[in-house]
Amino acid sequence: MILLDGKKTSEAIKQQIASEVAEMVANGLRRPKLVAILVGEDGASKTYVNNKEKACQDVGFDSEVLRYPDTITEGELLAKIREINEDEGVDGLIVQLPLPKHIDEDKVINTISPLKDVDGFHASNVGKMVLGEPSFVSATPYGIMAMLEHYNIDTKGKHCVVLGRSNIVGRPIANLLSLKGNPGDCTVTICHSRTKNIEQHTRMADIIIAAIGTPHFLKEDMVKEGAVVVDVGITRVPDATRPKGYRIVGDVDFEHVAPKCSYITPVPGGVGPMTIVSLMRNTLQAMKQHK
Ligand code: GUN
Repeated sequence: MILLDGKKTSEAIKQQIASEVAEMVANGLRRPKLVAILVGEDGASKTYVNNKEKACQDVGFDSEVLRYPDTITEGELLAKIREINEDEGVDGLIVQLPLPKHIDEDKVINTISPLKDVDGFHASNVGKMVLGEPSFVSATPYGIMAMLEHYNIDTKGKHCVVLGRSNIVGRPIANLLSLKGNPGDCTVTICHSRTKNIEQHTRMADIIIAAIGTPHFLKEDMVKEGAVVVDVGITRVPDATRPKGYRIVGDVDFEHVAPKCSYITPVPGGVGPMTIVSLMRNTLQAMKQHK
């Protein structure tokens, strides 16, 4: 069993980005800039945004976090997005999800300029991604693809089972893996909350992407010998023995599943760091396209 080390892999990519930024600055260009909008007080969202800000510092990007109370109106938020769309000093704009119930997320996402949509959530970027055209691919699926590529995992003709159909992970990764290329050329099955006998699907899978949001959902008897398992789960489970009062648990029962796998991602230290570095890659790409 080989551990897919997202920390190490993402560090290597981070260093490439940092040296590219240093070269740009040495040539008189400004630094890429990412703006993140954070609405409300959700603890996980705050952590994610802090991590994104820290990653920007690590690679030499400028960054700004705009924090708003959850009483902000949809109109106020949309007006701010339109203002940033016009700001030539900003390359990438993300709005951390979820948003409060009174704000229409689709409206927010589709108000972001597709040229600055480094989350790859805008309908225009999603459509291009599905067609295999150049686009911003959302960070988690992009990170998973980069990890498979980094470890030279052969995906051609393999049966991939994706657990979860979210717009952020399940749907895009299923599309990417079904496209021509390597990673790609997979036969893909998407399983979700209404799928009957999920284990019958997972047992046939050469590659399993677990993005269902249920801690330890994927058990030993659901996985065939030699499978590649990618765990996207990041559920916070209360744990009084930890300094923060919780620990992060993946969708895979790692302890029992890992011995059966050819490759598996740990949680934490697997997909998570790859996601953040992918956002950095998209932001650098956004700046190059603006110039
Ligand atoms: N909420 C959970 N994941 C993400 C993400 O990748 N981007 C944004 N904007 N919000 C999220």
